[in-house]
Amino acid sequence: MTDTLRLDASPDGLATAATLLRNGKLVAFPTETVYGLGGNALDDRAVAGIFAAKGRPSFNPLIVHFASLEAVREYVEWPDMAQRVADALWPGPLTLVLPLRAGAKLSKLVTAGLDTLAVRMPANPVARALLELAEVPVAAPSANRSGRISPTRAAHVLETLDGRIDAVLDGGACDVGLESTILGLAPRPRLLRPGRITAEALTELLGRPVVERKDTDQISAPGQMSSHYAPNAHVRLNAMDWQPGEARLAFGPAESCDLNLSPGGDLIEAAANLFEYLYRLDATGASRIAVMPVPHVGLGVAINDRLSRAAAPRD
Ligand code: TXA
Ligand code: MG
Repeated sequence: MTDTLRLDASPDGLATAATLLRNGKLVAFPTETVYGLGGNALDDRAVAGIFAAKGRPSFNPLIVHFASLEAVREYVEWPDMAQRVADALWPGPLTLVLPLRAGAKLSKLVTAGLDTLAVRMPANPVARALLELAEVPVAAPSANRSGRISPTRAAHVLETLDGRIDAVLDGGACDVGLESTILGLAPRPRLLRPGRITAEALTELLGRPVVERKDTDQISAPGQMSSHYAPNAHVRLNAMDWQPGEARLAFGPAESCDLNLSPGGDLIEAAANLFEYLYRLDATGASRIAVMPVPHVGLGVAINDRLSRAAAPRD
């Protein structure tokens, strides 16, 4: 057990967090998507520590976070398509998977042996300030025990990682609330994980179809294992009615419910609330959470992706 320091997003808190990171410690920090569990991506012990703290299978590679494009380009090959996407969407809730540069000095554990690297430049101001001060690339998966709900508040991080990490930097609630969209560009554009930036938006930007991966595809995004984001309670999807004893999670107009992702049916609001509401309903001790249908369009695709993983059979 480690005493997990609580830091606020003041200049002192940021400076402490950056020093800890540079020295190989593990620091959870806010991004606009979810909280990340950061470690120095150049330091094998720090990266191994991330896997240990999360209880994550080490074949599952990590996203590396950067403060600037110049820094990103030291580590990955950078085709024109990447520049086009970055010009339009970075900093922001989008991760790119690109060929790892020969000779890049990252810890080998980050990529779990793949020859590609997932890179991201977050927009959240606390994340940006931290990455600038840290002056090292920061590997960061979502700051939760493996398979559990991703955190959108510092309190969620502490729920599963208190005593297992060195610090949490509290930057309040995450705006987007779902993990970044992952776009593979090596070599063809492929959507590896849906998110706030939709396949439609990427297709329009690139002027060519961005296809969603199929579960049977032999693509290396092992984090896309089906059971994920799982609350303790079992999750029943597309509920058209409520059964006795269920915690009731509504979307849009609803006669009765415990929580409503968005009474007005707004997908952006629903995404921002999703993980917080799953944490809250789980905390009631209910054995089952029923969720009303969420339309499978635009951001609804990413919401339904997370919901179906939360509902997937567990081992
Ligand atoms: O919003 C986010 O992306 C958050 C914040 C903290 O940045 N991070 C996040 O990380 O969601 P994580 O580790 O929970 O999910 C990373 C996903 C996994 O599904 C992993 O398999 C995939 O990215 N991934 C990482 N490197 C990859 C690679 N080289 N090729 C394909 N998929 C990769
Ligand atoms: Mg995760």
